[in-house]
Amino acid sequence: MVRNRLPLLTLIAGFVIIAVVLAWLVVSNATSTTMAFEQTRRVGDLEFTLQVSQQTMGEALYMVSVRTANGQPVELERLQLEFLMTEMEMGKILVDADQVVPGQYQARGLFFNMAGLWQIDVLARTMAGNDQVVRFELPVGAPGEFAGPVNPLRSDAQTILAGQRLYLANCAACHGQRGRGDGPLAAGASPPPSDFTLQMLPGRHSDGQIFMWIRDGYSSNLASAWRDRLTDEQIWQVVTFLKTFGRAPGSPAPYPPPTDDEPLPTADALPSAVPSDPLTTGPAAVPTVSEPLPPSVFSRSGNIWRSNGSELTQLTNFGPESYAQYPIFSPDGSRVAFIVINQPPITAAAPLPVGALYVMNADGSNLRAVLQPKQGLLGLTAWSGDGRSLYVSANGVRSTDGGRDLAILLVNIDTGAFQALLEDAMDPAISANGQQLAYLLLSRDGYTQSIYVANSDGTNPRKVYDSPDFQGFYAPRFTPDGTRLIVAAIGGPLGPQGSAGSVALHGLPWDLWQINLDGTGLRRLTEIFEDLPLVSFSPDGSELLMMGSGGIYRLKPDGSELRRIDPLGDHGGIDWAKN
Ligand code: HEC
Repeated sequence: MVRNRLPLLTLIAGFVIIAVVLAWLVVSNATSTTMAFEQTRRVGDLEFTLQVSQQTMGEALYMVSVRTANGQPVELERLQLEFLMTEMEMGKILVDADQVVPGQYQARGLFFNMAGLWQIDVLARTMAGNDQVVRFELPVGAPGEFAGPVNPLRSDAQTILAGQRLYLANCAACHGQRGRGDGPLAAGASPPPSDFTLQMLPGRHSDGQIFMWIRDGYSSNLASAWRDRLTDEQIWQVVTFLKTFGRAPGSPAPYPPPTDDEPLPTADALPSAVPSDPLTTGPAAVPTVSEPLPPSVFSRSGNIWRSNGSELTQLTNFGPESYAQYPIFSPDGSRVAFIVINQPPITAAAPLPVGALYVMNADGSNLRAVLQPKQGLLGLTAWSGDGRSLYVSANGVRSTDGGRDLAILLVNIDTGAFQALLEDAMDPAISANGQQLAYLLLSRDGYTQSIYVANSDGTNPRKVYDSPDFQGFYAPRFTPDGTRLIVAAIGGPLGPQGSAGSVALHGLPWDLWQINLDGTGLRRLTEIFEDLPLVSFSPDGSELLMMGSGGIYRLKPDGSELRRIDPLGDHGGIDWAKN
């Protein structure tokens, strides 16, 4: 008798437990506002609402409710959830969701094992046997961090380029050109600037959390809030660029997040894994030869160096708190102008580096600062034909409101007085006869650059070239006869001569192009995918020197006889001596 009662009690206990669980589920549905994530998508005449209990790594509860347009719950034959981490190739996880009450399905488990953007596809089979796929995406934060907003930008070459420019101008002084936290201002900093090659590894932090750190500031006050200096869009550009530090060279670009106007995928058309970037190719092999550097000045590890044709001398002696770059000879070759990026004084309200413009004799003597603005950064420079003024790219030197303030300034060398010659312009270059000014004009949205030429006083500006085929230009230079420009560019028309740019490497693949001043005759000169190469003509115009982060090169202006003559590269620029 006693032995017979046990199954009955078990049965009753079982019912009680089921009732309690059901009641809890109904209550927990009613209090759905505690769910961390909720989004509704409509497919055909059905509405799918996905709720997720937490948006950080770890175990979570996933609830899907399916209704008709007028709110009637819809029972399905089957509902599954498919999880895909969009930022790295980990395969997909498919799980069955159980129906809790009619039209309500749930699954629980540890699927978010990486921080970053996740895609959840709801695979639904109706009683009539029709299959539907409803795609959701949600950012997931690392433990103790925020998931933050979804990065609205695609990780394409244009965004990465915009981010790289902002990074080089604002962040590289501390975090280093290669993101290793070893920039010139990093020495002795405590805590040291973060090493992005580790911090930006896929799965480590969500884009949204990185965005919030840059916008609002990270723990230490050395890492300041950038919200007054960069727009939200610019911060997203920087985030997208920072993420390239964490990708192994040659690894695929991240899976592009779905956009609203993309058709919803069908079940069998879903991508099976992260697609590889078909455009990713390695740089062509360039021979490295042992040749002395021709007479020139160049930047190396934050100081200006000179070659007399046989040996190298360090001309400046800036300490770790300063970084010298972009040296350029005066027209008569007797002086050298360059830019220094300085660590801000401890008393500065915002610890942002500030640029300064220097001039010295070609042997390094008589060094003096020509322009030392209180704020803002300086970039590439060019001498006026008479050697009395300097054209300088400047960002944020004049602004008081924190808005974008990009201009080419014309600076008087004796007095330091300056005027803004061209707004939204950068990378000035002067023709050999001193009469023409070439520069890049940045569109208002900050995305596209056009190549321009104007008279040396800034009048009569005219467009030489722009094209959606190119994602960016850098440092144009006049040919000695003043009829053409040689410019570094990313991307370019597809064809037997060229291949489209790849975005998979750190930095971006730049190459040299040539174009006539009337916009005709576009021609690719190199195919080596260098990082920000800067060129300079020999005095007789028959050869070019080029420096990027991969080394120093020598070549003919038509691109032939290209060879690497020094494996030590730098972003800081090179200029061939005048004689
Ligand atoms: C004056 C030096 C300096 C400059 C300039 C600077 N940073 Fe930093 N940054 C730091 C330091 C130092 C830390 C580490 C702070 C800490 O650990 O508390 C840091 C930390 C960070 C972090 C946190 C990353 C992590 O996971 O550890 C991010 C993101 C970051 N910086 C982005 C930027 C960006 C983007 C810029 C340019 C717009 C920039 N920083 C400019 C010094 C700097």
